[in-house]
Amino acid sequence: MSRATPVRRRTLADLQRMAAAGERIAMLAVSDATFAALAERGGVHALLVGDSLANTVQGRETTLPVTLEEMVYHTRCVARGSREAFLLADLPFGSFEGSPATAFAAAARLLEAGAQMVKIEGGAPWVAETVAFLTARHVPVCAHLGLTPQAVHEFGGYRVQGRAPEDAARLLAEARRLAEAGAALLVLECIPRALAARVTTEVEIVTIGIGAGAATHGQVLVAYDLLGLTPPPRPRFVRDFLAPAASAEAAVRAYVEAVAAGRFPGAAESY
Ligand code: KIV
Repeated sequence: MSRATPVRRRTLADLQRMAAAGERIAMLAVSDATFAALAERGGVHALLVGDSLANTVQGRETTLPVTLEEMVYHTRCVARGSREAFLLADLPFGSFEGSPATAFAAAARLLEAGAQMVKIEGGAPWVAETVAFLTARHVPVCAHLGLTPQAVHEFGGYRVQGRAPEDAARLLAEARRLAEAGAALLVLECIPRALAARVTTEVEIVTIGIGAGAATHGQVLVAYDLLGLTPPPRPRFVRDFLAPAASAEAAVRAYVEAVAAGRFPGAAESY
């Protein structure tokens, strides 16, 4: 009699084991059940309910207006559409800055909706304090440094971060601070690939890059970008995997394979 292996969700420990074994992690940002299921069929290891759904789903200019209620709704949709991938969700702008206790209340809503981890942008000391507060209360945290879109008005636009030596040194110090505070994953967005490689080798944390070169432990892309659905101009780090593929599922699989083989992103897709 054959017994089917029970399906279980990947855990943070699974992702940490992959990173330690040198197996690259493929993450996809999705916001609904259909895309979540598609991503899983394509072999993606982790799903992010990112606040970029403000741009892709809601047609907004920035990620700032997304509410916690909306993030909870989309997290539920993605949780229902998936069974195996590790699931993390963004703490949206305005949901965590007030105090660590406010951040915990927001994180609890996302975990109740099905997330296994929350992502928080920034590396200032108060963000690290919040990370420590959350992790002490059983909320796994993914940090996010570099081009953090919630700080777009401070940056004056969507620009590569960490190019100047003093900015690179600050980012490295922030990564250390967040890891010491208990963050287990770190998204590095739009930074020079040499800096991402340094963070990956020098800081005790699993790194996931987007526009940060191929030396990180894993990659994340927004599903709409991977499928070539985002209208131009597209950032340099975006590759349309659908154009050469026979189906959307084949495109996701090609992404997972390219990440695994270190073929994505290429030099021309990095800074
Ligand atoms: O919101 C999002 O989709 C993200 C990824 C681009 C990292 O934060």
